[in-house]
Amino acid sequence: MRFGVLTISDRSSQGVRPDASGPALQTAVEKQGWQVVKYAIIPDDLTTICVTLASWCDTGEYDILLTTGGTGFAPRDVTPEATVQVVDKLTPGIPEAMRQASLAVTEHAMLSRAAAGIRGKTLIINLPGSPKAAIENFHTISPVLQHAIDLIQ
Ligand code: MTE
Repeated sequence: MRFGVLTISDRSSQGVRPDASGPALQTAVEKQGWQVVKYAIIPDDLTTICVTLASWCDTGEYDILLTTGGTGFAPRDVTPEATVQVVDKLTPGIPEAMRQASLAVTEHAMLSRAAAGIRGKTLIINLPGSPKAAIENFHTISPVLQHAIDLIQ
């Protein structure tokens, strides 16, 4: 499967804080034997996120786009709003499963507003911003991803 990894963070996009989550996700994806075709860092800006998600999906080059960051309660956290705007269909079972599994790790899991959905033939999945949380959530969903993509075709 072909993945895009998109880190959504004001500070990392400005070079103020190195991005740890994007590279960690890239490693986790590749450990599954899957391919990361593209990786980028963008700020927490609704229009930028919408345009990036839509344009990556519409190339047809990705089966799955993973975002990391911007799912919390901070005023600038708008990743789920952008995701909901660009998808054709929501896939609520994916964030439901992530929050359920994460609650066993931390009660803060209920503060994740992550969304997921399908645009064209690409599945977009929001993951939290910290490397630890992003990887834990990725491992929750990774067992179903191949079947999900088979169904979308
Ligand atoms: N899920 C797991 N598995 N592990 C975590 O440490 N952190 C939570 C939550 N989900 C966490 C988690 C926290 S503290 C927040 S605020 C939300 O994800 C949203 O994270 P974000 O604002 O970095 O996107």
